Amino acid sequence: MNKMVILGIETSCDETSIGILKDGRIAANLVATQEKIHTPYGGVVPELASRAHLLYIDALFLKAMEKASIAPGDIDAIGVTNSPGLKGSLIIGVSFACGLATALGIPLYMVNHLYAHIASSFLDPEMSFPAVGLVVSGGHTTFFHMNGPVDFKVAGETVDDACGETFDKVGRMLGLDFPGGPNVEREALKGDENRIRFPVPLLSPGSLDFSFSGLKTSVLYYSRKNGPGRNVADICAGFQKAVGDVLEEKARRALVKYRPRSMIVGGGVIQNGYIRNRLRKVASEKGVRLFIPPVDLCMDNGAMVALMTYFLAVAGAPPSPKKISVIPT
Ligand code: KG4
Ligand code: ZN
Repeated sequence: MNKMVILGIETSCDETSIGILKDGRIAANLVATQEKIHTPYGGVVPELASRAHLLYIDALFLKAMEKASIAPGDIDAIGVTNSPGLKGSLIIGVSFACGLATALGIPLYMVNHLYAHIASSFLDPEMSFPAVGLVVSGGHTTFFHMNGPVDFKVAGETVDDACGETFDKVGRMLGLDFPGGPNVEREALKGDENRIRFPVPLLSPGSLDFSFSGLKTSVLYYSRKNGPGRNVADICAGFQKAVGDVLEEKARRALVKYRPRSMIVGGGVIQNGYIRNRLRKVASEKGVRLFIPPVDLCMDNGAMVALMTYFLAVAGAPPSPKKISVIPT
């Protein structure tokens, strides 16, 4: 990786983040999370998210430059998430990036948020293509087949709810705080995953698409009928096991179909230790190298955007016009 200094900006949902890539390593990756703002509402409130991005972004940029020991004039290129995400949130990051790139006279790259999640593993020298990528986040559950770092072909995706969204909805049904994912995982650790069996939706044989809404509804009906009460830990464990069964089996199908050298996973749900282990199991069964980013690179962050930007620049992708263009979900 060459000596470019790249600024990555992420504001697609409820984390404001600035990452800086310098001398081939992540020199800063600051995240201002909005969890406390949205928790009382049980989900992300788009208007509050946009306002918080606006409030945090300047200070975060200054702090990130200080952390990386750089001045604005040192930045060679800027990358910003412009899709997919909440429109009002994307606009804050994209406006900031357009203004900065114009003022500094440097190239600007619009970055796809899902590609950036996968790019978190591109710094690993052991990574090689062809690869299967899997993003499991609050808004997406998507497989990619990849022959290079800027070659993303969608190989499967959810037909209804995203996996993280399902964790959040199940958490809410059981009275757990938003975001449900980490709280469901914590409860599941105390439960018996085999006591309550929930359906494992696999769709047609060989399909790499996902469907989580039926599983979510089963958890709802079970909790209504039996009352979550003392069952919360067992419900969480049973639900998490069903998700693990789905992700493991779909990953197995993808590895059989594409026979890749690497499998790269990313996105907020990949912070879940149980899910990480299920994916490790299938990768080792199929003899494929699995790349899982450290936890701080699984959640939404600016460094992953800076990394994707670097690979776009190196691949010769044309910089984007410096005008506000966002593609919401
Ligand atoms: O990638 P991300 O930070 O934002 C999106 O791009 O959506 O993912 C956020 C999602 C939320 O749904 C959250 O509940 C889920 O990741 N999540 C988890 C865990 N930590 C975060 N899901 C399951 N287990 C976790 N430990
Ligand atoms: Zn994300």
